Amino acid sequence: MIRGGRPLKGKIEISGAKNSALPCLAATLLTSETVTLHNVPYVKDLITQRRLLEDLGATVLTPELRTHKVSAKNIETFEAPYELVKTMRASVLALGPLLARFGQAKVSLPGGCAIGTRPIDLHLKAFEQLGASVSLESGDVVARAPNGRLKGADVSFEKVTVTGTENVMMAAVLAKGKTTIYNAAREPEIEDLADLLNKMGARIKGAGTETIEIKGVESLGGAEHTIIPDRIETGTFIVAAAITGGELEIKSCQPEHLAAVIEKLREVGVEIEELNQSTLLVKCCEKGLQAKNVTTEPHPKFPTDMQAQYMSLMTQAEGDSTITETIFENRFMHASELIRLGANISFSGTTAIVRGKTRLMGAPVQASDLRASASLVLAALCAEDETLIDRVYHIDRGYEMIVKKLRSVGAEIERITDNLAMSAEEN
Ligand code: EPU
Repeated sequence: MIRGGRPLKGKIEISGAKNSALPCLAATLLTSETVTLHNVPYVKDLITQRRLLEDLGATVLTPELRTHKVSAKNIETFEAPYELVKTMRASVLALGPLLARFGQAKVSLPGGCAIGTRPIDLHLKAFEQLGASVSLESGDVVARAPNGRLKGADVSFEKVTVTGTENVMMAAVLAKGKTTIYNAAREPEIEDLADLLNKMGARIKGAGTETIEIKGVESLGGAEHTIIPDRIETGTFIVAAAITGGELEIKSCQPEHLAAVIEKLREVGVEIEELNQSTLLVKCCEKGLQAKNVTTEPHPKFPTDMQAQYMSLMTQAEGDSTITETIFENRFMHASELIRLGANISFSGTTAIVRGKTRLMGAPVQASDLRASASLVLAALCAEDETLIDRVYHIDRGYEMIVKKLRSVGAEIERITDNLAMSAEEN
């Protein structure tokens, strides 16, 4: 339950990046030695990823809430079951490391989800290029490396894929010979994973660019690594400050990881000052917000994971803006809920047209996925009266303690129920 209309003021601490911690935890499967990860965000998807590691036979210790010490010395099974994969698609990140270290892996094929069909065909094709045989058996992807070891190869992705690039990187680090990935994803999370893998003894060059070169090694060892700050959480709190006309100091972030978001938000009138390398001061300028168009594209362009939050902001900007989604085919589910709050949004193919500025009024709404729920929270923070957001468990998948963080800067927000039963069924 959110009662809107209160400008947020104060300091917010950014957590570790969910989409970096997920592949980094999967990478611990590549070695029999202990890997220690710090700054792992305490969110539902990471709890699920930890469970996956434990189900495979790994031991995970958490000496502190956000530190995971993983030992994958005694892996007993090479299988990620449907029960787990259906709750979190990122479980497919177990495929690359299992195949690389044990020469076999069986992971349930994820189905579609709320934002699109999201196939993993490009991951599987790349594994085949590395010499694996891949088949579908009763809904499971079964991959095997002949003679137990993959062979380095040239992999050229026809479409940029983030987890696809990560999976192939993890598969190639233990392959025999050299792998070159062309048209690789360039997200900061790719670089973070490569940093961890190199600390473990891998030989990866070029992560963060379109071409990544990996020289396969015989084995990897233990390492200690700190996960980068979450750039999407950072962007979400910038919008929270702007949409409520507040002032937030956003700490422990890495502004260069969201340069396109900061640039766009400055263009629409948000004042963003870089106090130092890891702190931003955000205010809404007195003239108010001006509508500007945006198109989502792979990094370093404007990320799809900020599209929903940007749409909420545009309901408060003067003028019309078009928002074009090019990454996922069905990522406008939040728009119809924003319309329930009073937004004026229409559609033309993969483009949403937002006509602003509109007065938002609280209403019951329903979240459909992680970023959609963030956009509803943002809209509710500036809406009059009370907004009730249902299926809020989506937000717990990727935003650490969002209720607590928002309350600490003055938001009137309360969790009415956890609705855990639904969360297990529908995530
Ligand atoms: N695609 C294919 N075949 C493939 C792989 C991808 O057609 O084998 C398509 C997808 O359907 C999509 C596009 O390629 O249309 C890009 O998908 P990508 O593979 O890059 O997405 P992902 O790796 O599944 C990650 C993030 C998402 C984020 C996207 C895009 C993780 C765990 N997830 O997903 O994060 O939206 O990249 O940046 O890293 C979120 O955090 O809310 C979230 C959905």
